[in-house]
Amino acid sequence: MKYRNFGPDQIKISEVGLGCWQLGGNWGSVSDEEAKKIIRSSVDNGITFFDTADVYGGGRSEKILGNYFKENPTPVFIATKVGRSGNLYPNNYTEQGVRNCIDDSLNRLQTDSLDLVQLHCIPTKVMQKGEIFNWLRALKAEGKIKNFGASVESMSEALLCLKQKDLYSLQIIFNIFRQKPAEQVLKIAQEKKVGIIARVPLASGLLSGKFSKSSQFSATDHRNYNRDGKAFNVGETFAGLPFNKGVELAEELKNTVPENMTLIQMALRWILDFDAVSVVIPGATTPVQSVENAKISGLNSLPSELHKQLFDFYNLHVKQHIRGPY
Ligand SMILES: NC(=O)c1ccc[n+]([C@@H]2O[C@H](COP(=O)([O-])OP(=O)(O)OC[C@H]3O[C@@H](n4cnc5c(N)ncnc54)[C@H](OP(=O)(O)O)[C@@H]3O)[C@@H](O)[C@H]2O)c1
Repeated sequence: MKYRNFGPDQIKISEVGLGCWQLGGNWGSVSDEEAKKIIRSSVDNGITFFDTADVYGGGRSEKILGNYFKENPTPVFIATKVGRSGNLYPNNYTEQGVRNCIDDSLNRLQTDSLDLVQLHCIPTKVMQKGEIFNWLRALKAEGKIKNFGASVESMSEALLCLKQKDLYSLQIIFNIFRQKPAEQVLKIAQEKKVGIIARVPLASGLLSGKFSKSSQFSATDHRNYNRDGKAFNVGETFAGLPFNKGVELAEELKNTVPENMTLIQMALRWILDFDAVSVVIPGATTPVQSVENAKISGLNSLPSELHKQLFDFYNLHVKQHIRGPY
């Protein structure tokens, strides 16, 4: 595993992290035992960065991480999020409400100080108002949180957050199907030493190339109930692509994969080839997946002609199909 600088103080974190939404169990299939195995195999393969949120599984994802690292003390970095639980969303943001959520996260993660708290795709208007950043600054001054960042949907929100003094990190959807962040946001973040966390790197699994148009997902899986954005931003599911179109595009991409590589390796490697990215956080639902994903760090960068080809592919065939704020 290779380690990259992260945030204004340039601490070292693994360039491949573990996304922990699926550990919340909203997707139905990850048991407590399996979740522990996924975390253990991640740690054993050099992963030191874990991304969770207070709302994943109503706190279950945080609880599983808190229990695991209490039983197995390891120097890792746990990034959590606030803004989608405790009735804050969409228009009930108060300082006390945020504080209550932070106290709950501290309890579940069994720590006195959270490594990083990211605003969890809060409404643009709340970001624009700006006072929520001051509440986070106060929590940082008190030591309840070490740093704060933001997870955003659109590039205009990313640019808005990048104007906030002391922003530590920015979490964005970035993958071969969602290349817009590369136009402007990555460069500005890098100049400001704001850490970039690349989420939904496999477009919810589409970029593994394993789905067909007849693939089925359980009723509790967002790839079933949110595929057209019925529950939250459609961009979080299949990167905003209609499922059948995403399957077709992934099939076409298979023709571009270099020899001795898989589509999934090309997709994750593509993200790591941007040096402004601090960490990519695929969501593994089995220990085998977490090991495969960790190993991307050891692969060579993709050739520059392939980057050009993938950029053209995105511009010609993908971007017009993306739905949701972007
Ligand atoms: N608003 C936000 O801030 C926000 C929103 C979304 C996600 N996130 C963060 O980003 C993380 C990653 O996003 P995500 O999990 O939604 O999407 P993702 O990483 O693009 O895709 C995850 C899916 O890809 C498949 N997969 C992963 N590794 C694989 C491998 N090696 N081989 C084959 N298939 C593999 C699995 O599908 P199967 O389960 O079908 O095997 C898994 O469910 C989340 O866990 C969360 O931490 C944050």
